[in-house]
Order: sequence, then structure tokens, then C-alpha cells
Amino acid sequence: MTKQRILVAYGSKHGATAGIAKEIGRVLDEEGFATEVLPAAEVTTVADFDAVVLGSALYMNRWQRDALQCAHRHADELARRPVWLFSSGPIDSSAEQQEIPPVAQVAEELERLGARGHVTFGGSVTAETPGFVARSMVRHDKGGDFRSPEHIRRWARQIGAELHTHEDRGPNGN
Ligand SMILES: Cc1cc2nc3c(=O)[nH]c(=O)nc-3n(C[C@H](O)[C@H](O)[C@H](O)COP(=O)(O)O)c2cc1C
Repeated sequence: MTKQRILVAYGSKHGATAGIAKEIGRVLDEEGFATEVLPAAEVTTVADFDAVVLGSALYMNRWQRDALQCAHRHADELARRPVWLFSSGPIDSSAEQQEIPPVAQVAEELERLGARGHVTFGGSVTAETPGFVARSMVRHDKGGDFRSPEHIRRWARQIGAELHTHEDRGPNGN
């Protein structure tokens, strides 16, 4: 049987969300899918994929622009295939401890694309993160890497399981 193709696209300013996307891609590869991981700005089509995972870093309660534009640019094709969205994230352990609902903007995308699910992962702001706010957070001991590999892997495996279930059902859904 040919492998299902999954696109994992991400919007990332400083690399933390790129790391999450790569981990999702790695898990889905392990689960038997043909996975491509791409920055959202480099996505020219989603039509070649059986399913799409699209995620972004949050800045001031909004997705990074490339990810949002990707969702808008490919809205028609995305709405025709299984899609999952993710956001990253809080600079504390809250995302691991409880489910953090999507911000209003992302809730709208979820609805519009008919996405199968959404998760918020912890984010990362470290001494290497550029910008005044990041520097100030780190200086006041409010930084850190709160991306949980276990949380990320668990969510990716759930997507894999859901896609394999549909595969088992065959083309007529039986
Ligand atoms: C200026 C600034 C604003 C941020 N705003 C939010 C926010 O509104 N909500 C949130 O959960 N995280 C927020 N964060 C945390 C980032 O989303 C987190 O660091 C993320 O992992 C960054 O991903 P990136 O490195 O891929 O850009 C903010 C971080 C900075 C530096």
C-alpha cells in the first residue's frame, strides 16, 4: 500500500515552532507516513498531500503571519482534507498541565477549515531569542524552553492513529 503523504507546515520567528514541527514530522515518519516538513511561507500547494498539520508560534495572541497566510491561501484545498492545527506557546508548564484553547483567531481558522483538532504546546524563549521582550523575559527569569517532547509526540501519534483508522476502512469508508 502506498504511504499517505502528510505536510507539516509551520510559522516560526525564532525556531522554536520549527523544532516542534520537525518532531511531529519525525513521529509521523516513524508511524509509516511520507512526511514533508516546510516553513508555511514555502508551501505552494497542499493538493499533493492526504493530510496537513499546520502550526504557528503565538505572538500577542496571534499566529505568526506566514502561517495565517498559508491557511488563507490554501483554504479551499485544506477544507477538503484532514487538517490539524497547533499553536506554541506559553512560557511555563501550563500547556502540559491542561488543554489550552485556541486563541480567537485560530478558533476561527479551525471552524473555517473544518480542522479535526488543535493543541497548544509550550513555547521557548531563551537567551538566544532576539528582541527586547525576549531579553527582558530572560533577564527577569521568565524565559525557558517549555516544549515538551512527550506532549508533542503523543499528539502526533494520535494523528497517525486517526489517519491509519481511515486507511483501514478502505475507500468506501467501510
Ligand atoms: C514578544 C513576544 C510575544 C509573545 N506572545 C505570546 C502570546 O501571546 N501567547 C503565547 O502563548 N506565547 C507568546 N509568546 C511566546 C512565543 O509564542 C514562544 O516563545 C514561541 O515558542 C516562539 O516560537 P518561535 O521561536 O517559533 O517564533 C511571545 C513571545 C514573545 C517574545
